[in-house]
Amino acid sequence: MLYTAKEVQKLVKSKLGGYKFIIVSNREPYIHMHTPSGVRVKTPAGGLTAALDPLMQACGGTWVAGGSGDADRENVDKKDRCRVPPGKPRYILKRVWMSKEEVDKFYFGFSNQTLWPLCHNVFKEPIFKRSFWDGYKHSNALYAEAVGKELKGVKEAFIWFHDYHLALAPKMVRNGAPNKQKLVLAHFWHIPWPTWNTFMLLPWAEEVLEGMLANDLIGFHLHPYCINFLASVENVLGAKVDYKALTVRYRGRTIQVKPFPISVDFATIDKLARRPEVRREMKRVRAPQYIPYKYIGVGVDRIDYTKGIIQRFRAIDRFLEKYPKYQNKFVFVEAGAPSRTRIPAYMKLNEEISELVDEINWKYMRGYWKPIIYIKEKLDSDKLFALYRTANVCIVSPVQDGMNLVTKEFISANVDRSGVLIVSKFAGATEELKDAIVVNPYDVEGFADAIMDSLEMPLKERQKRMKNLRAAVRKNNVFKWLADFISEAAKLTS
Ligand code: F6P
Repeated sequence: MLYTAKEVQKLVKSKLGGYKFIIVSNREPYIHMHTPSGVRVKTPAGGLTAALDPLMQACGGTWVAGGSGDADRENVDKKDRCRVPPGKPRYILKRVWMSKEEVDKFYFGFSNQTLWPLCHNVFKEPIFKRSFWDGYKHSNALYAEAVGKELKGVKEAFIWFHDYHLALAPKMVRNGAPNKQKLVLAHFWHIPWPTWNTFMLLPWAEEVLEGMLANDLIGFHLHPYCINFLASVENVLGAKVDYKALTVRYRGRTIQVKPFPISVDFATIDKLARRPEVRREMKRVRAPQYIPYKYIGVGVDRIDYTKGIIQRFRAIDRFLEKYPKYQNKFVFVEAGAPSRTRIPAYMKLNEEISELVDEINWKYMRGYWKPIIYIKEKLDSDKLFALYRTANVCIVSPVQDGMNLVTKEFISANVDRSGVLIVSKFAGATEELKDAIVVNPYDVEGFADAIMDSLEMPLKERQKRMKNLRAAVRKNNVFKWLADFISEAAKLTS
């Protein structure tokens, strides 16, 4: 069966009909920003909001999220709500406000300097700081309070928490709810879960797990992350876990822990990628004053040390050194959206990337040609899809990534079926994408060879592989992810 927004809509109606539907995440799906030409609404980089917005558009409900735009406050009502998407409103966005100091401790602090490196296991030491932890607890309480307000007078509600920013909020919401209220709480954790002995490094490991076990259902992208979570619960809390059934028994309740690999809206991306605007942009990319060279590679990332951007550029350097016939013929376009730039590790990474790009370009540049074009922004969809369609190869090389939706986005936009995907063995998506070329981003030689292989691959082989990849993503699309999660959650309503 091919899942669509309509199927999910029907499913929510039939299984969760009477339930108030609430999503809670730190990142908001629409951001109001002041610009010289007035207030503009932007959408953020990152998979979470892209995956959930189609659900909310199809099913309605309330999305509780942190206000992050400088014009956000001017665009809500007295209850801090606005209707989105702008122009064709389908659901309510309720914003939670945090001061700069609160954001520093909660988002830039505990979420992204403690939990993010801890869960990603990438040799970046997590920072265990009391003030970050206090800020995290405080901000989780703000989210729980906002949800509590939305629950006033409601008999039954399905509340779906997202990500590592909100590990404590489920317990706070459950404790704050009146006894009579029927709540189904679920959580999807969008990043990996580390092995239990890594997780135990966290001085507040118990509280984090207790917060999460207030949910009825906890989802991860992959089975191994579920196993790591169960082992953490078993070792840290001494809870009874069943590794086969994927359940935890804790304080008289049973919690389901299941894998749900997230995906993209294949049909919409496929449709958008065929627009005349995209074709026009493809011509512009290939124009003599832009990239008139034979081979194009593309990388699209949030600038993050988990994404393996440095490793990718080192491999490109080695590839040009080892296979010099590609000099003056191959250009790699990196579209890197700046992210979390207040955090020292991210500031340093931005500098390192710019320096490495300069160094490689200096080493090889000849006349107008240079091997790397580094665009430091999130591209609009026409430009992005044009690049995906023009590129001979898309390289996704995280050193650790829960899933990575750039892989699936590239595949969905590859309507000409001629591109090749190179993907790191450390991306969650790799498990499903059997026809991609798989690399270890730390293996510079193997990675350089893979780039060469991707460019030398005969058209027939590329088409065969891309056809299979597209069939896999079409079938396992974001609506299948939503339907699977909601069906599982709905079993818990009786
Ligand atoms: O992949 C993890 C994640 O938190 C996603 O859930 C989110 O879409 C992305 O990173 C973006 O991160 P941020 O919200 O910090 O910009």
